[in-house]
Amino acid sequence: MTQATHSLATRSPTALDQIDTPAALISTARMQRNIDRMQAKAHALGVSLRPHVKTTKCTEVVKQQLAAGAQGITVSTLKEAEHFLADGVTDILYAVGMAPHRLPQALALCEQGCQLKIITDNADSARAIVEFGAAHNAVFDVMIEIDTDDHRSGIKPDSQELLVVGDILHKGGMRLLGVLTHAGSSYELNTPQALAALAEQERAGCVRAAERLRAAGLPCPVVSVGSTPTALEARDLTGVTELRAGVYIFFDLVMRNVGVCTTDDIALSVLTTVIGHQREKGWAIVDAGWMAMSRDKGTARQQVDFGYGQVCDENGQVMPGYLLASANQEHGILARTDTPDLDIESRFPVGTRLRILPNHACATGAQFPQYHALSEDNTLSIWSRFHGW
Ligand SMILES: Cc1ncc(COP(=O)(O)O)c(C=O)c1O
Repeated sequence: MTQATHSLATRSPTALDQIDTPAALISTARMQRNIDRMQAKAHALGVSLRPHVKTTKCTEVVKQQLAAGAQGITVSTLKEAEHFLADGVTDILYAVGMAPHRLPQALALCEQGCQLKIITDNADSARAIVEFGAAHNAVFDVMIEIDTDDHRSGIKPDSQELLVVGDILHKGGMRLLGVLTHAGSSYELNTPQALAALAEQERAGCVRAAERLRAAGLPCPVVSVGSTPTALEARDLTGVTELRAGVYIFFDLVMRNVGVCTTDDIALSVLTTVIGHQREKGWAIVDAGWMAMSRDKGTARQQVDFGYGQVCDENGQVMPGYLLASANQEHGILARTDTPDLDIESRFPVGTRLRILPNHACATGAQFPQYHALSEDNTLSIWSRFHGW
């Protein structure tokens, strides 16, 4: 028995020893810090915060966001809306373009007391909403999605189509609630100056769209913007009423590379066990492969490529230079980035528990049916999360 395995066998048991691996661990202290930081930012900017809960899909987490002052939630599926409505959250923005076949499900939510807001960015979908509303005597709250950074969907702030869609909805008897935008291209930036400039572009484009609707005699009380990087680097949100952000709850290595958090802010990690080695290659094999970490290699395009994740010791202390270099379905290959660590076997004996920080917290969390929430006093709680559509 090596010295290291001996110390592993004789150290006193910790809360983490009770958990089978791989497991999704939340540091509740870090998560609370992240919640407080974003809530304070929204407060300082004079807007309300509507967190995007697709990151966690977890009742306990969302409760803490609301307790900290969030006003309503954003969801990416109607299943999330159903789940959180059952939890008692009524103010819900479904921030994915409305597909006509989902209108019956949306109506059922409204009938159960949900103040559901739906979105569209085209005339066909707007007409489908109006026609369904007329056929079912239903009035939906609808927002128009605006494209402020060319990265995904939405209508350009200066496009004629904006007024056409606004007109269809308003004249068709729907409540035209406002405009929303998400500057997702912020993930490609990495300086505070560039992020602040994009936040201003996001703000200005969305406010411009709102002003054009109002000038055309259409209602537009809500102006909703946000992504984690632009939210945290925005200097001024004049004309905006609410901020949306999701991944800030956990942060991750992509956000670390974007520059809006440090590795010490990352609240989600994957607890894993060393199961073997390839000593001459300097590898340790762990039981967290891509099925645990997800296939997301979002840092590969950024200035620091973390492979499948940053290795930390069992207590969450970063081990600089050690990454989950590659991954099969249930095997992860842990290696040092510069030169092979030929002492890997004694450094990480079989049975050693480690934590891996994820590239993309939303994708990694989605691999697990539950989180293990670990408080600073080492109390463990199991928080379930859900999947699917
Ligand atoms: C419409 C919309 N709003 C807000 C967000 C939150 O972005 P982030 O996770 O960067 O905070 C997303 C994320 O994809 C989104 O799609």
